[in-house]
Amino acid sequence: KIQDISALEVLDSRGNPTVEAQVILEDGSWGQAIVPSGASTGENEAVELRDNDPLRYGGKGVRQAVANIQTQIRNSLIQRDFMDQSQLDHQLIELDGTPNKARLGANAILAVSMAFARAQAQAQQLPLYRYLQGPFTEAVWLPVPCMNVINGGRHADNNVDFQEFMIAPHQAGSFAEAIQMGETVFHTLKALLKQRGLSTGVGDEGGFAPDLKANEEAVDLILEAITRAGYKPGEQVSLCLDPAASELWQNGHYQLSKSTGQILSTEAMIRLWEDWTRQYPIVSLEDGLGEHDWEGWKALTATLGHRVELVGDDIFCTNPALVQQGIDQKIGNAVLIKPNQIGTVTQTLDTVRLAQQNQYRIFISHRSGETVDTFIADLAVATSAGAIKTGSGCRGERTEKFNQFLRIEHRLGAAARFAGRDAFGQ
Ligand code: PGA
Ligand code: ZN
Repeated sequence: KIQDISALEVLDSRGNPTVEAQVILEDGSWGQAIVPSGASTGENEAVELRDNDPLRYGGKGVRQAVANIQTQIRNSLIQRDFMDQSQLDHQLIELDGTPNKARLGANAILAVSMAFARAQAQAQQLPLYRYLQGPFTEAVWLPVPCMNVINGGRHADNNVDFQEFMIAPHQAGSFAEAIQMGETVFHTLKALLKQRGLSTGVGDEGGFAPDLKANEEAVDLILEAITRAGYKPGEQVSLCLDPAASELWQNGHYQLSKSTGQILSTEAMIRLWEDWTRQYPIVSLEDGLGEHDWEGWKALTATLGHRVELVGDDIFCTNPALVQQGIDQKIGNAVLIKPNQIGTVTQTLDTVRLAQQNQYRIFISHRSGETVDTFIADLAVATSAGAIKTGSGCRGERTEKFNQFLRIEHRLGAAARFAGRDAFGQ
């Protein structure tokens, strides 16, 4: 039985307000959670309720979302018994009454949903990932940490168009070994940038954000860092990209406005990804095309889907209805999972299940505005996600997720498995 629910306006890693909720059960178990916030958001994401009061935090305050938890949500949930996560989440969805959680705010709803999950896990004396695992397999897999070592696009004030250049240290015996490899590459890259007179300041997700001569230079620098760190590119450490192409989309074309200003058609973009994936050891490409370019996505999948993981972020928005459309139209072969795109724990797990039942891989993700909340680390283990992206080699709100994986792996001992190269298929 839920005894009490409270909420507070706190801060995310960009210094913008976000929602923290606390749920207390009758037996004294309790859970707390903070929701993250994106910058390059998909249009079909659940609505993050902001106050739009220009006098506070540039309009980004979340006092209304907090108030919704403390009044309407609290009133409808306290002193009630919920059998499981799904029952609680459906009550929240019903109370909101809109298809995209616009009335109460997905930030309010998800904070309560996650806090309830933690409280229930505590009541059942389970680690969070075990509680979330429910119908999933018994095996306990730790994901490949895909580390976003060069930031561009909307996450950095440099001249790089593509948003994320990630390293995937997949040839490792454990998560701990993989993260050590990733950090070694990260620190080697820092030294390399310094040596070349390039900036080592970092972007929103903790990757470096230098001005470069071309987008390709980001890849060249990373490959050199991998080699200098003593690893074989493609064999031990591969690359994953998220160009976040929806952000480049203008009037039916893709515009590389931060670098050359070049304007590319859908066909030209597909050719670019064909070239890049032949030339470089890229195992995963997320949002290679924009969320409105469904026809382009079909062509991209037909061209590259058999040899590269194609992850849908903006086009799917962790939404089961959109993922189903994607499956029907043969769009992509993997789904990016961000709980705050859909707004409850149950719907997040529904999307995971739908993807997995249709042989789509899942890729768990943080947001560019994060907090030290480590919920997604447990979510990745619970769902046997092969891969996670949760930042680069630094910034506490990112490394805290890595720390949570290290704790889980340590406690599991010999029962832990590391996903490795298979995480990306082919
Ligand atoms: P966002 O970026 O959190 O700013 O939306 C992450 C992504 O595009 O994957
Ligand atoms: Zn993305």
